[in-house]
Amino acid sequence: MIRLAVIGLGAVTRNIHLPAYRRLKGRVTLVAGCDVDLATRAAMEKTGLFKRIYDSHEEMLDKAKPDVVSICTPPFLHHQQCLDALERDCHVFCEKPLAESLAHADEIILASSRCMRSVVVNSQFPNMNIYTAAKKQIGSPEFGRLLFLHAWQTFRPTADTEGGWRANMQRRLCFEFGVHVFELIRHFFDATPSTLWAHMPRPIRASNTESLNIIAMEFPDGRAASILLDRVSKGPERYLEMRLDGEHAAVHTSIGGELRFEVGLHTRQRKPFMGLHVVKGGQAVLQQAERATVIGTDGMNPFASATAVHFGNFLSAIEDGRVPSGTAEDHKATLALTLAAYDAAESRKVVAIAPYLSGAATRKDLS
Ligand SMILES: NC(=O)c1ccc[n+]([C@@H]2O[C@H](COP(=O)([O-])OP(=O)(O)OC[C@H]3O[C@@H](n4cnc5c(N)ncnc54)[C@H](O)[C@@H]3O)[C@@H](O)[C@H]2O)c1
Repeated sequence: MIRLAVIGLGAVTRNIHLPAYRRLKGRVTLVAGCDVDLATRAAMEKTGLFKRIYDSHEEMLDKAKPDVVSICTPPFLHHQQCLDALERDCHVFCEKPLAESLAHADEIILASSRCMRSVVVNSQFPNMNIYTAAKKQIGSPEFGRLLFLHAWQTFRPTADTEGGWRANMQRRLCFEFGVHVFELIRHFFDATPSTLWAHMPRPIRASNTESLNIIAMEFPDGRAASILLDRVSKGPERYLEMRLDGEHAAVHTSIGGELRFEVGLHTRQRKPFMGLHVVKGGQAVLQQAERATVIGTDGMNPFASATAVHFGNFLSAIEDGRVPSGTAEDHKATLALTLAAYDAAESRKVVAIAPYLSGAATRKDLS
């Protein structure tokens, strides 16, 4: 049984990690948790899920001696906490984004290799059923090659979603949410874009951070992807929609529940249509002209179920002595795209991605 400890017992631990660990019962045992906030510690003590709860991660690591440490604190703490866990011979499961700069990511990657311990980042979206189903289509006779991908979000921020440490972030939307989208784009194209262009206007003057991300990127072979993250719209919220255009068909993925009845007319064919759509946590639909086939669905908490798959794969790799997928090194390319997007928006120029991956680009902190 793998001994697991958790640093940071806030929302992501409550809503994503604990439900994920529950699914992996019998493979991990929660030996300890730690949080600097007294009320959070007290609430977690009541659940009885942790053998012991500490107020300092160093003390927890020294006394509980876990095999694996999950880091669920705000991003600006990940770098030091990853290093502290690695130095104590722990494998690390770190929440995204791994670090605030590529220099910090490099230090974590070096420490991971020096200590011979793995660091895996919880960029878990590719493990959702809907994205697994979409990925399976790529290269199939029905879909063909993936040519173009567009991803979009419309989200209405509230005091709750923007409170705490997030309130102090000047670069928030692309850094904290955009990483998920970049990770999916790299996953679907099996490649990292070669160039990127971004526009991050701030139409809400009082806002501390960007509320719109308009990003376009190109792959060396001419294929392309674009992202629109919209926190200005007062229209219906969609957490993450994605359309993958292949040579012969398209796939539309959607995260979030939906109950919709539609009746209409396909104008070109003059054919009526009717449909009832019931979606719990997410849906992937293969679209061949007007024909739509559901190819994948997710339950009410796809974030937790995907984390369970990702973390389960990590545990298997540790048990078998294999290199896991989703390591810090792999995540660095996702982080590089995020960083490049901010640089492109500031410089108003198309930026090349290669220098970010080789370390030649100016390394700026994202804080
Ligand atoms: N993978 C996902 O789907 C997903 C979803 C949400 C959040 N996240 C990520 O999870 C991380 C945490 O986000 P959150 O929403 O849980 O934030 P949160 O504020 O709800 O929780 C963070 C917790 O860390 C604690 N903390 C702060 N400093 C600490 C320290 N030095 N030692 C120990 N504990 C400390 C805080 O008291 C708080 O309880 C972020 O990196 C965020 O981007 C990932």
